[in-house]
Amino acid sequence: MSETTAGVRACGVDDLADGESIKIDVDPAIAVHRVAGQFFATQDLCTHSQWSLGEEGELEGFEITCTLHMATFDVRSGEAVCLPATVALRVYRVEVVGDDVIVYLD
Ligand code: FES
Repeated sequence: MSETTAGVRACGVDDLADGESIKIDVDPAIAVHRVAGQFFATQDLCTHSQWSLGEEGELEGFEITCTLHMATFDVRSGEAVCLPATVALRVYRVEVVGDDVIVYLD
């Protein structure tokens, strides 16, 4: 991972297949998700409790399920779409530059 002037290189385009998520160890940690060739970035921790979505979540379409208590979130908006989570995930802007997935943390 390396920092650019405007964002953070989270991973390479080929590091994730469609339907996969990955945890990126920045502070705070984020999760990058790939759906149909598009990349999305959210906070890594589920808003219900402390559980990594990038490492333990199950991505299906645009929704990721937290495997601890089965809350689901839309990775495009961060919206909590299924209880027990009621608070949205923070989302981050993502840009693909060449082979790099850049995430803007501010
Ligand atoms: S920690 Fe994610 S649903 Fe409870």
